[in-house]
Amino acid sequence: MNMKGHVILLGSIGGDCHSVGLSILRQSLMANGYQVKFLGNQNGLEDFFRLAGLCNAVMISSLDGHARYYLQGFRDLLAKYHPNSTLWYLGGNLAIDDAFGCEQMFREVGFHRVFVKFTDLRTVLETLKADLYGVPVAPDVPALWNGNSHSVATGAGDVSEDLLPLESFCKQREEVLSQWPTGQEARNLDSNGVYLSKAPQYSQEQLAVNKGLRKTLIQPRCGVASVNHQIRLFQIYKSVGADTLSYQVDSLTRNNNYVGAADAIRESEASGVSTINGFPVVNHGVSALRRVMAETRTPLQTRHSTRRPELLAEISYAGGVSAFEGGAICYNIPYYKDYPLAESISRWQYVDRLTSLYYERFGLVLDREFFGVLTGTLVPPCIAITTNILESILAARQGVKCISVGYAEQGNRWQDIAAIRVMREKTMETLRNLGYANVQVNTIFHQYMAAFPTEPKRAEELVLQSAVTASMSKATRLLVKTPVEAFRIPTMQDNCQAIQLVRQGLHMGEEQMLNEPAIESECAILRQEVDQLLEGVVLAGSGNIAKGIVRAFELGLLEVPFAPSVYNRGEVLTVRDEKGAVRFLCVGKLPFTREIVEWHRFQLSRRRASEGHLTEDNGYLLVEKDIMQLPRGEYRSWPLFA
Ligand code: 5AD
Repeated sequence: MNMKGHVILLGSIGGDCHSVGLSILRQSLMANGYQVKFLGNQNGLEDFFRLAGLCNAVMISSLDGHARYYLQGFRDLLAKYHPNSTLWYLGGNLAIDDAFGCEQMFREVGFHRVFVKFTDLRTVLETLKADLYGVPVAPDVPALWNGNSHSVATGAGDVSEDLLPLESFCKQREEVLSQWPTGQEARNLDSNGVYLSKAPQYSQEQLAVNKGLRKTLIQPRCGVASVNHQIRLFQIYKSVGADTLSYQVDSLTRNNNYVGAADAIRESEASGVSTINGFPVVNHGVSALRRVMAETRTPLQTRHSTRRPELLAEISYAGGVSAFEGGAICYNIPYYKDYPLAESISRWQYVDRLTSLYYERFGLVLDREFFGVLTGTLVPPCIAITTNILESILAARQGVKCISVGYAEQGNRWQDIAAIRVMREKTMETLRNLGYANVQVNTIFHQYMAAFPTEPKRAEELVLQSAVTASMSKATRLLVKTPVEAFRIPTMQDNCQAIQLVRQGLHMGEEQMLNEPAIESECAILRQEVDQLLEGVVLAGSGNIAKGIVRAFELGLLEVPFAPSVYNRGEVLTVRDEKGAVRFLCVGKLPFTREIVEWHRFQLSRRRASEGHLTEDNGYLLVEKDIMQLPRGEYRSWPLFA
């Protein structure tokens, strides 16, 4: 293999945040000796043209079927710059229809190779190799590349983990409440506190579960444009067995586009059909939310992934919502391409401080939940647990008294149960050691969050058996998936069916035998991994957790596999072992001891042996296979191992 292979510029174009395929392509190119200049996703055409002249080939991926729209100016830019002999590749999922004529169209504007629909890695690599045969390697010009580097923009700077002083909070609050007219309705904390005190509370339901007085709580997901429709859905889900409720916020609101959301609400009301993918709560405002509360009388949560979450939190709490999801890592690294951690940390400190003000003034224990699901795909439990713990510390420092830590099922039942156990144990232990023993800690079990099987029977089995695992793990709450996940946002009927399956599964789980030795050995490894990752962050920040998070991501001491963020190093690779448990194929710069690294290698060696043709160098083929395993139906049953 060449030490310095051809230079490839790789990135995706358009608004899509999916990054799993791109990450694998990057890894496989690197493993084959190429020098990869990685742009991540959400690029514009200019981003590619600016750097194309320094590369042998440019590979553009487009996934949402709108390639034609994103590439409109391609022919003109190519004519204008025409960077020497650069090869242009285009691939992904280029059109939303059957893509007839698509390849020819893109070849005519100047692409050398066009892969219209899913193409396997081997094909891409072989084509590239043949195309670059005999072509001289592009010279390295670090000065030019560095101008494009984002690392200059990071830096722990003045990020702090201290309690946000009330004075700065109040100053920020003025600005936050003026971001959209509905903000004013949330202004009076006293009347909000009085209202919220009478609303059903997440923390109370959860406490009952943690004390063993109640079973795992069932929580479905939904979100529509109109208030009345939203109320109807909640009432129906409650009547079929949902214990806690939440709405998904639509993606216009998540991007703080309230003008767009207003248009969408009007459009939806005129047509009678929701044209957006969630509930636009900022536009509807406090009084609408209070109407939802009054008609539902069930603990309510806001789920979203908003970049600037402050106003959303203000309106949620003022409207009677007792739980708010999101955090500085989990709602940044897996979702956004270029969102500095120092900024997300400070925005979420505002949310946490607001949460704790309700405790200080009214004794209200509001829940803050973290999305430990991250990218959802082959996420190793130790990464999910560590990010949850770090966000818990940041929240506790702001005075938050109730925390929910989340984890997405991966498919090996014993590993999943161990993950929930260690997540609870380590979060409580860390908070206790830091002097926050009185914080309520809850565990959230997410039913499988990566690409779903398309076959209805298999999808139903997944939802049912996943609930069995959740029950055995004794998680506080279960987040429901539905059997139609591969095809659409679930309808009311889909969710009702799923809630039925989940109730059945939770019940079945009570009768099942736990394989304690298997669970305990997973727990033992996990505890060590989490300790080592946490220690890396503590050292990177010289004891300051906020600074440590920023530095650790910069140095690769912590990263989220397959995430789109430029602040994520993207060196870690994960795959399943023979029993479906998620293991590290490549640990990047994660600060694990040699024993841990060797342990993972050993776990994978048996799978390598059984898949003969795979060597250490092309492990990315295993990753590809694992990611496609469920959608392709290439497995016996769910869970993958029990
Ligand atoms: N309505 C119902 N379910 C939703 N989900 C996301 N948005 C909505 C919505 N508006 C579900 C989907 C998705 C998961 C994160 O939440 O199943 O995969």
